[in-house]
Amino acid sequence: MPDRYAVIGNPVAHSKSPQIHAEFARQTGQDMVYERLLAPTDAFMATADAFRARGGRGLNVTLPFKGEAFRYADRLSEGARAAQAVNTLKFERDAIIGDNTDGAGLVNDLVRNLGRAVAGARLLLLGAGGAARGVIAPLLEQQPAQLVIANRTLGKAQLLAQCFRGGVEAGTYAALAGRRFDLVVNATSASLVGDLPPLPQGVFARDALAYDMMYGRGETPFLAFARGEGAAVLADGLGMLVEQAAESFFIWRGLRPDSAPVLKLLRANEE
Ligand code: ATR
Repeated sequence: MPDRYAVIGNPVAHSKSPQIHAEFARQTGQDMVYERLLAPTDAFMATADAFRARGGRGLNVTLPFKGEAFRYADRLSEGARAAQAVNTLKFERDAIIGDNTDGAGLVNDLVRNLGRAVAGARLLLLGAGGAARGVIAPLLEQQPAQLVIANRTLGKAQLLAQCFRGGVEAGTYAALAGRRFDLVVNATSASLVGDLPPLPQGVFARDALAYDMMYGRGETPFLAFARGEGAAVLADGLGMLVEQAAESFFIWRGLRPDSAPVLKLLRANEE
């Protein structure tokens, strides 16, 4: 019997994770299957329990269940604790381990795939919801020169900044006027509805990289804005998706897959 894994979410039909993990398994010769698991919005834990009872070894957790998965785990990694969210569950014989690989996925995409150092960079993070919270600790570990969180609702950005000891500044979009950043990461959900965070003009430094954690067909409004503002490099979240999957695969199987050919394959499928 191959080991069983799945991505659990609602909706989950669009998830690229089964394709990514199938490629990783093929590459590394692992005997495993990876499925999609649709959970009713009020039955995350029951659905995860049933999967585990059928011999499931681990789950990737996607929207809207990352907070519930955090409460479901018996033991949490430091990253999961900082994110207050879990995207990777590992079922051991008598414990459920919760981890979060989203932040490492973003950092690896920035540093390895895009060749951009976070260390020493002036970093601007847009949004103060779960997506932003999930990546702050791994970004701080890289020791950026600055990390500023901008959000429509200032109080939410301030609360989030306070969770991380020092080094994180919170502000409104308007307060960004006149400042310049080397890396600007969009962690708002604005792109989902074709919207743009209200960034003032001129925040992209020369050589700036604009990163949208969303991905999909076509340029997001944020990346279109960044292009118009002269950002040097534009990136969507597809690389982060592949890199967070590679980290999950490592947690489950103890092997590091080669993410580059898988990202290339997904890009080719997009065209
Ligand atoms: P997620 O878990 O995806 O981060 P969330 O917790 O609902 O989702 O947070 C959504 C984030 O996107 C918030 O920072 C939200 O800003 P507010 O806190 O001010 O609501 C931000 N957001 C959503 N739509 C936006 C828009 N059109 N413009 C700017 N920010 C937006």
